[in-house]
Amino acid sequence: MNEKMERWEREAGVEFLKKIGIKSGQAILDFGCRVGHYAIPAARIIGNEGIVYAVDKEQQALDELQQKAIRLSLKNIKTVNTSGQIQTDLENNSIDVVLFYDVLHYHEKEEREKLYQEAFRILKQEGTLSVYPKHTLEDNPIRQFKELNLDDVKREIEDSGFHFEEKYCGFISHDDGLNKGCVLNFRKGTI
Ligand SMILES: C[S@@+](CC[C@H](N)C(=O)[O-])C[C@H]1O[C@@H](n2cnc3c(N)ncnc32)[C@H](O)[C@@H]1O
Repeated sequence: MNEKMERWEREAGVEFLKKIGIKSGQAILDFGCRVGHYAIPAARIIGNEGIVYAVDKEQQALDELQQKAIRLSLKNIKTVNTSGQIQTDLENNSIDVVLFYDVLHYHEKEEREKLYQEAFRILKQEGTLSVYPKHTLEDNPIRQFKELNLDDVKREIEDSGFHFEEKYCGFISHDDGLNKGCVLNFRKGTI
């Protein structure tokens, strides 16, 4: 891994994830975690009392994440290799923060709605759904976000029962570099 990303995972990423609300002792789901550019800083924040469920359908990416975790003596990351299914094995109301970072654009609307429902099911009542909707019309549009703007994505998440809370912008991780991007935080409402 390049030095810039090591520094991100050790310093700036930690600061950014603290800003979006990750705290010591929490349970986090990083859905579509790849090599862990968010899972690693999250694990540093939550400490030994917390856990990061790092889910991906690419075993090779999870292997890389696991190797990093071993090297850094981080014992609070549980990697989960799936075949791409939306449903997780996590219990109802058990997770503090769900991260959908740079992953929603892989999914058609119907699947995205299932992802929001799954996040709603597993999040604690005061839990946070944090979304990095990369690749909308404003930001190198591709795949299922080719024709959607940021507001469209925000609206579909609100339509799934979440309340928009805050937008956090900065130089954040994308693929294996940093770019200017914004993350949207939502709270689980009552439906
Ligand atoms: C562009 S990467 C983003 C990685 C990470 N979230 C980040 O922001 O650095 C998207 C990742 O999501 C994974 N992915 C996409 N759809 C998935 C699904 N349905 N289930 C599990 N992983 C998925 C891909 O395999 C890939 O590793």
